[in-house]
Amino acid sequence: MSTKVRIPSFADAKNRRQKVRAAGMNPNFWYPVEYVGAVKPGKIIEVTFWGKEFALFRGQDGQLRAIENRCAHRQLKLTGGEVRGCQVVCPYHGWSFDGDGRLVDIPHELFDKNMPNIRLPDFEVRERYGLIWLFPGDRERAASVPMPEIPEIEGPNAWACVPVDFTWNAHHSMIIDNVSDFTHEYLHRKYEPFKNPRLTHLEVEGDKVFVEYDTEVAAGKLYSSFIPRASADTSHMKLCYEYPHQWSNTDDWIKHWCCVLPIDERTTRAFFLFYYKQLKIPFLPVGIPRRLMVPILEIANRVLMRPLLEEDGAAVEAEQAGYERHYDAPVAELSPAVHEFQKLTIRKWEEYLAERGSQQTQRRLPVMPSGS
Ligand code: FES
Ligand SMILES: [Fe+2]
Repeated sequence: MSTKVRIPSFADAKNRRQKVRAAGMNPNFWYPVEYVGAVKPGKIIEVTFWGKEFALFRGQDGQLRAIENRCAHRQLKLTGGEVRGCQVVCPYHGWSFDGDGRLVDIPHELFDKNMPNIRLPDFEVRERYGLIWLFPGDRERAASVPMPEIPEIEGPNAWACVPVDFTWNAHHSMIIDNVSDFTHEYLHRKYEPFKNPRLTHLEVEGDKVFVEYDTEVAAGKLYSSFIPRASADTSHMKLCYEYPHQWSNTDDWIKHWCCVLPIDERTTRAFFLFYYKQLKIPFLPVGIPRRLMVPILEIANRVLMRPLLEEDGAAVEAEQAGYERHYDAPVAELSPAVHEFQKLTIRKWEEYLAERGSQQTQRRLPVMPSGS
């Protein structure tokens, strides 16, 4: 499919749907970009957030660093180069940059000039929950912006969690619409992760949209066989679009986070972290011992969660394709929850654009000579 599709830009959007499908995500939040184990010492990878490319690398000291993926000399991608010690070396003339983005070495003659004082933008990175998290915005703000807090999967008594991820050809807002809106029960008629859902609560609180459903959670035969129904009340589910990510909770037994990485206007990577207080051995009333939870979750991911989520992936990819063909078709959205998700995404993007606009204006303001 052509990537040169002309869909309305955020500024040109004529209705809320066109606006939300063009909205970016505010970079001043934490986003998962990769699994911790995928970036070993000495490795460098490219990560893209909303069209902006970052060089993420782990120095030989084991520490992760992220800088703009661009050599300051002739703009080659630094990810084409190599990590030496705790620095990255550009593949062309061998200029080296440290983890703060500072140019620290030029291995050819300087023609009697001083070493240029150059620094590329650098970014905050953290490792948590087995994932690498990037703060693609202003690094001074990173410390004060919370990342998803998931106390259940940390510490000595952590619940088991084996993340799964997908890169889908769909705008991030389509994924957010999908994960908290249960009107798509039909799509999952084979696995029945939720059955007969009825929206019982919808509330917006700051940057969060809470929804609740009365529903039969994990109704399908396969899913159901893992759930200890005698202990867990699986008739109700709470969900939240906690900007920019999403979570759910079923009676404090079954929980998940869906954390998104918006790569560009039509590509999004989604990391799903499902975690369970306890699961039972299928078709027996016996709990799975903790030490077996991880291997069993790996199997459950393969036979159940992945195929189930691939249904969502196929749907949002088809929605993206449909939107690109018919972005001017009349909007026919019934779910009040979806309207609220979209409003939040648009509001956060407008906030970011306004802030960025005022920063740029401030930078452009001429310095008036004193006394004028
Ligand atoms: S382009 Fe990177 S060192 Fe010249
Ligand atoms: Fe779904």
